[in-house]
Amino acid sequence: MTTFATTHSTGSGASTARPKRIFNFSAGPACMPEEVLAQLQEDIWSVRGSGIGIMEHSHRGPVYDRIIEEAEADCRAVAGIGDTHHVLFLQGGATLQFAMLPLNFLHPGKSADYADTGVWATKAFKEAKLFGKVNVVYDGSKTKYDHTPAPSEATPTDGACYFHYCSNNTIYGTRWPSPPKTKSPLVCDASSEMFGRPYDFAGHAMIYAGAQKNLGPSGVVLVLLRKDFLETQRKDLPLATMLDYRKQAENGSRLNTPNTFGIHVMGLVFKWILKNGGLKAIEQRNAEKAKVLYDAIDGSGGFFKGHSTPECRSHMNVVFRCPSEELDKKFLKEAEALGMDGLKGHRDAGGLRASIYNAFPRKGCEALAQFMSEFKRSFG
Ligand SMILES: Cc1ncc(COP(=O)(O)O)c(C=O)c1O
Repeated sequence: MTTFATTHSTGSGASTARPKRIFNFSAGPACMPEEVLAQLQEDIWSVRGSGIGIMEHSHRGPVYDRIIEEAEADCRAVAGIGDTHHVLFLQGGATLQFAMLPLNFLHPGKSADYADTGVWATKAFKEAKLFGKVNVVYDGSKTKYDHTPAPSEATPTDGACYFHYCSNNTIYGTRWPSPPKTKSPLVCDASSEMFGRPYDFAGHAMIYAGAQKNLGPSGVVLVLLRKDFLETQRKDLPLATMLDYRKQAENGSRLNTPNTFGIHVMGLVFKWILKNGGLKAIEQRNAEKAKVLYDAIDGSGGFFKGHSTPECRSHMNVVFRCPSEELDKKFLKEAEALGMDGLKGHRDAGGLRASIYNAFPRKGCEALAQFMSEFKRSFG
């Protein structure tokens, strides 16, 4: 059998004379664009010709001013948003957003809508319940989170402070084909597919994403926050400074020392997206990569079973299983021996999961599909 461990260089020269890399199907932190990694190696030593490495620069100095300003401008260019939104680079990961959102926007005597489409969406509404009234307008647990709701399955509440949903469910491998339609402000956790496809970014009151899948390293979270939504912020609470979106916006995400390295990496990733044709081109490549794997599942005569219904299939996390747990284990072991890592499904969903974010190479999907077909031939 072929061993797939490879340098799989993007052609940037990143892999010359370096230890070889394997295919990393991790759900996050996940594989990064090799061009970005190569640039970072230089920037850690000296960034932008300054003679000082990126981690050693003051977050208030002129070099870093340019880095963060450019990251914000490139982010706006990728998302196609203008002055209607704040672009924030915050800390505490996506999980802190689960709390910051209701703290800032869930008013006493009112409620917020949440669609429960799986583990992360569940965590989000449970956190919100600590701070106010929550309506779970869709409960996907009844169908083992195998799809996201059709419009008839989730009825938004009139007058809700906001409607929260998770656009791509990392653990179950489902996504919303398009954003839900609501009268209340729309808030999206896009952690596992941010900038993986064009989206109505401007139409959302808030979109947030932990960086560690499509944008950069863990520990920094991107928040696109519409200014008119920020106007609806609660004024009756003494909010901790760091948890106050207004103060974060007024201080350009530099209330305290931000994750300077993480923001720099995000900036490089935004440039990489723009250089590679923007979100339309990225979406096309992601769709092709995902098709390679879904075709392998669908063409296996029922040996492999996908978790998601076809219309909600994620292009980022392909979740599937073998006919038995025994075979899942064997599959993982053999895949690892061939240089394919990170294929174990999340403990809540079981089975197998191939995470194939923006930076994951198509060659890796082809290698996995080939292995799937060989495995089925041996054990089917
Ligand atoms: C959809 C989604 N939301 C939120 C999170 C939590 O992110 P963090 O670890 O940055 O808090 C994750 C992590 O995997 C995720 O996949």
